Amino acid sequence: MSVTGSAPQAGREADDRRFMAAAIRFSRRHQGLTGTNPSVACLIVRDDGAGPRVVGRAVTAIGGRPHAEPQALEEAGDAARGATAYVTLEPCAHHGRTPPCADALIAYGVTRVVGAASDPDPRVSGKGYAMLRAAGIEVVENVLAEDAADLLRGYLTRSTKKRPEVILKLALSADGKIGAKGQGQVRITEEIARRQVHLMRSEADAILIGINTALADNPSLTCRLPGLERRSPLRIVLDRHMRLPLDCELVRSARQVPLLVTAASDASAESRAALAEAGVQFLAVEAINDHIAIPELLDDLAARGVSTLMVEGGAYTASEFLKEDLVDRLCLFVGRSEIGETGIASPVDPDHIPAGFGKLREARYGDDLYLEFVKAG
Ligand SMILES: NC(=O)c1ccc[n+]([C@@H]2O[C@H](COP(=O)([O-])OP(=O)(O)OC[C@H]3O[C@@H](n4cnc5c(N)ncnc54)[C@H](OP(=O)(O)O)[C@@H]3O)[C@@H](O)[C@H]2O)c1
Repeated sequence: MSVTGSAPQAGREADDRRFMAAAIRFSRRHQGLTGTNPSVACLIVRDDGAGPRVVGRAVTAIGGRPHAEPQALEEAGDAARGATAYVTLEPCAHHGRTPPCADALIAYGVTRVVGAASDPDPRVSGKGYAMLRAAGIEVVENVLAEDAADLLRGYLTRSTKKRPEVILKLALSADGKIGAKGQGQVRITEEIARRQVHLMRSEADAILIGINTALADNPSLTCRLPGLERRSPLRIVLDRHMRLPLDCELVRSARQVPLLVTAASDASAESRAALAEAGVQFLAVEAINDHIAIPELLDDLAARGVSTLMVEGGAYTASEFLKEDLVDRLCLFVGRSEIGETGIASPVDPDHIPAGFGKLREARYGDDLYLEFVKAG
């Protein structure tokens, strides 16, 4: 039985968008927790005449397996027969460690599959839908595809560009400054905006800062929202000369939350040994004219399974990523107060957004303004 039976086309399309929107929201649940696999959601919906109802739902398991479809189908059991499956990414078609999800959808007898984003993985692209159609299943593609792709951007970027999606997040004062010279951490935004940043951290695979930020602000870069503390991502510091002090928050927490320091081959062996003793790990980097080669660094992070990298400053580090055209998403939190002449100018502000970025969303967090821009393509 189809989800909407003989309902008119418009009602059916509205149902498809409604259930896909719910699936997309649900897919956020394991964002940042699914390793190299994307966090995908699947809803199994059936209508026995009294209106559509969800009989199975799942999101990719922590670690990346099992995928969402077999879990949702298992929950639905016999109720999957004749139902519609909503999937936020095209179902996989290849035999990996587990059978393809397209096979599972066929075996459970769903009669309709509604998909959102397409998978750029050549083993899947178009093949999952083709398998379903060959089995006589009705397939509707691209429902809320852009919304789904927005949440899958890390996976999609890593698949197509072989590097993580780079999210540059900065807090700006009303006069476009990100801090004040020699004053350490300056309070720019209020509590609600800061909590939002912690939520973003919980969904990222890694956070990166420059060494001057580590020295000036002594941040811990963890997610400290109640209940989400275990979702702190990998932390990375660009620190060629190993100036990171042993008693800073980042090093002190290195045994609980992984900390990776970029290390030039000529950095002090003594500092390296002391940091290693404290639990710090190292990533060998190439430095050309004293510059760490950011594209190569991103290649290495992608190879380690990092799909989403949040760059949290400072000004120098942010401009290095911008100069290389390696920022995909700009997240600006703008506070109400001004810092004035002692301030450190931000390399980007709402009036100077680099070419190629379009505004995706704008929000208010308490008194602070939030602006998010994404690069096309
Ligand atoms: N409001 C915000 O959102 C925000 C966020 C973060 C920081 N901040 C503020 O920003 C200030 C620090 O910013 P900053 O611009 O001085 O420093 P930064 O960007 O934190 O660190 C710069 C240093 O990182 C290393 N580095 C970065 N990119 C590199 C590359 N491609 N190659 C080699 N080394 C690289 C270099 O250190 P070595 O040469 O020693 O290796 C460089 O001197 C602080 O006042 C902090 O409070 C504000």
